[in-house]
Amino acid sequence: MDICRKCILKLTPYVPGKPIEEVKRELGIDDVIKLASNENPFGPSPKAIDAIRAAAENVGFYPEGSCFELRNALAEHLGVDKDMLFFGAGGDEVIYYLGMAFLEDGDEIVQADPTFAEYKAASTIMNCAAHCVPLKDWTHDLDAMLAKVNERTKIFVITNPNNPTGTIVSSDEIERVMDKLPKRCIVLLDEAYYEYVDDPGYTRAIEWVKAGRNVLALRTFSKVYGLAGLRCGYGIAPTHITNSLERVRAPFNVNSVAQAAALASLGDPGQVKRSREQNKRSKEYFYRQLDSMGVAYTPTQANFVWIDTGKDSNWVFNELMKRGVIVRNGFGCSTYIRVTTGTDDQNERFIAAFKEVMGL
Ligand SMILES: Cc1ncc(COP(=O)(O)O)c(C=O)c1O
Repeated sequence: MDICRKCILKLTPYVPGKPIEEVKRELGIDDVIKLASNENPFGPSPKAIDAIRAAAENVGFYPEGSCFELRNALAEHLGVDKDMLFFGAGGDEVIYYLGMAFLEDGDEIVQADPTFAEYKAASTIMNCAAHCVPLKDWTHDLDAMLAKVNERTKIFVITNPNNPTGTIVSSDEIERVMDKLPKRCIVLLDEAYYEYVDDPGYTRAIEWVKAGRNVLALRTFSKVYGLAGLRCGYGIAPTHITNSLERVRAPFNVNSVAQAAALASLGDPGQVKRSREQNKRSKEYFYRQLDSMGVAYTPTQANFVWIDTGKDSNWVFNELMKRGVIVRNGFGCSTYIRVTTGTDDQNERFIAAFKEVMGL
């Protein structure tokens, strides 16, 4: 007998990118690379590693729930008021808290499809419907999304760049949408990958937050800062939103090691520069190789590439895995895989395996 809340039964546990150790165990191979979860192939800044070691000494104590030092440093770094920041154990948790704080039973959210899975999960947990609007040319179809907005719409999600396609939405389009949304609706602008964007037409959501719009800009230390394992993300939003989020936050949600590592990362601007440069090199390498193979892909503004294999993506996924390369498929697109950019060696390894699998 299921005695849990009925809406929970609609959820299935999140399936993450396959861990390296699991593939090694299952396939009995030693040399495995993972290009599946959009992590930074170089990991964190050396300054963050030092801070992690130092912070380990103090894990006998609870962390500062307010993320005091990290908050001060980040507020200065971003040029926003400290109260406009809200921290979570990863961006994931910020999304869940947004749902807890703002979604009444029966409210609705509007999002793209395919996109990051956690918005829908958060709305389902709150017994709310998610309108999942198909992408057009692999980017948000904002008019079709607007057509789903009604008096119950509470959160309108724009994932910018979008995961898994790496596409962005222009600032004109975003402003046009914001002007049409009801006052009670929050725009969740997910910028988990914004540091990688090189399109000059890109506008960061923080500009709209500063202008007092009903926007929450979602950011993370998991990607460019290479701290995915520590779980630290944040939202930037007007204080009427962050104050509500603080009401539902678990007391010590961001652990002390994560806070120390995130703080130290901010003190190493080279981390962002190095990661962006490597990503640019990787993207260009992928494009060159895929072009020469005649394989279609979507140019990306993030650290992953959305590739149309033209074959059953489950089969491609499994064949790549047998060759020690883990990528990601699914997303309801039967021929597509998403491949995270890696180190030069990892990229070459993926391309060699991909060529073999594709018979090219
Ligand atoms: C679009 C998007 N938003 C948010 C997240 C959450 O990242 P994290 O919880 O590691 O901060 C991810 C992670 O992959 C993502 O792809």
